[in-house]
Amino acid sequence: SGPLRLAVVPGDGIGPEVTAEALKVLQAVVPAEVGLTPTRYDLGAEHYLATGEVLPDPVLEEIRSHDAILLGAVGGKPGDPNLPPGLLERGLLLRLRFELDHYVNLRPSRTYPGTPSPLSEEVLAKGDVDFIVVREGTEGPYTGNGGALRVGTPAEVATEVSVNTAYGVERVVRHAFARASGRRKRLTLVHKTNVLTHAGAVWWRITQEVAAEHPDVEVDYMHVDATMIHLVTDPQRFDVIVTDNLFGDIVTDLAGAVTGGIGLSASGNINADRTSPSMFEPVHGSAPDIAGQQVADPTAAILSAALLLEHVDLPAQAAAIEQAVLDDLAEQAGAARRRTAEIGDAIATRLS
Ligand code: NAD
Ligand code: IPM
Ligand code: MN
Repeated sequence: SGPLRLAVVPGDGIGPEVTAEALKVLQAVVPAEVGLTPTRYDLGAEHYLATGEVLPDPVLEEIRSHDAILLGAVGGKPGDPNLPPGLLERGLLLRLRFELDHYVNLRPSRTYPGTPSPLSEEVLAKGDVDFIVVREGTEGPYTGNGGALRVGTPAEVATEVSVNTAYGVERVVRHAFARASGRRKRLTLVHKTNVLTHAGAVWWRITQEVAAEHPDVEVDYMHVDATMIHLVTDPQRFDVIVTDNLFGDIVTDLAGAVTGGIGLSASGNINADRTSPSMFEPVHGSAPDIAGQQVADPTAAILSAALLLEHVDLPAQAAAIEQAVLDDLAEQAGAARRRTAEIGDAIATRLS
């Protein structure tokens, strides 16, 4: 089947710094008989400011021909007058997710022995936290289905309409149930059915229908606001959370923050039907506040590379990365902060 063909989009801010470390780790762990051929695509703020291009169609088609995509982060400096808000987020990141039909946005969260967490002693004493968020990736309020009237006047009206199709909800809910079956068999639907009654009804009905096919999985429902409470007071109760695109975005930043921090939060944008390449990236963004200083934690990018290997059927290598990260974090407990490349080197060394 030839070497693993990887499209690499380092992107903006800390994106290139953390992606370099993820690639280093991949090079160390992918067996020589498989091989790895990365192709780098310089897309993002710098490329846009220099060329006016965000994601030209031929580049998208080239990216599509790879086995998987490794992405760093997308987003320029806030307030840059030459960068319209959302231009890169929509035109590059979301375009890739939508065009490649990444309907499963998989975001695991767990506590790591030796890694500090802002959770209270009392909460941590209840045991390890280990859950995944299955965030819908192609619909919700992200579709750009909205508009504005009378812009700039006191009578301005702006809408962002959330799109929820039975097709789109069912496929991601089915995926979440399948994952729950292979885990602790507990699925929580997170939504706001008490207010968003139209969208809520689709999510509720389809979850109940699919639940009937999975008597092994215990199903729970929680409003998204209350979920914020439980993530902080009782995160051990979660195994698989399934939710829409925007709720999932918000839930997963908190999930990262209460476990090991956003520097450890990995994600996969997965096309579970394998009709196009899936894309793996940290949950965090380009972090312009710390970019270029070699202080970003590359662990989230490295764990995203592990999710990538799992997806391309190299589960032993994926598990090896996870173990190396665990060992690295355990060894570092209480130690001084390391530079980005030092962390990547330490994890790669454990694997070679
Ligand atoms: P952010 O995730 O970039 O940063 C939030 C905070 O977390 C900052 O204080 C940052 O320094 C810190 N942080 C993030 N990653 C870290 C790491 N690896 N190690 C240590 N600290 C880390 O979120 P933001 O500031 O809201 O967004 C900045 C830009 O990134 C925006 O343009 C946004 O649109 C974009 N963004 C892109 C993605 C993506 O590409 N997937 C995700 C989120 C935000
Ligand atoms: C993320 C980011 C993106 C999202 C933005 C940058 C479009 O916040 O990957 O979590 O909202 O999905
Ligand atoms: Mn986000």
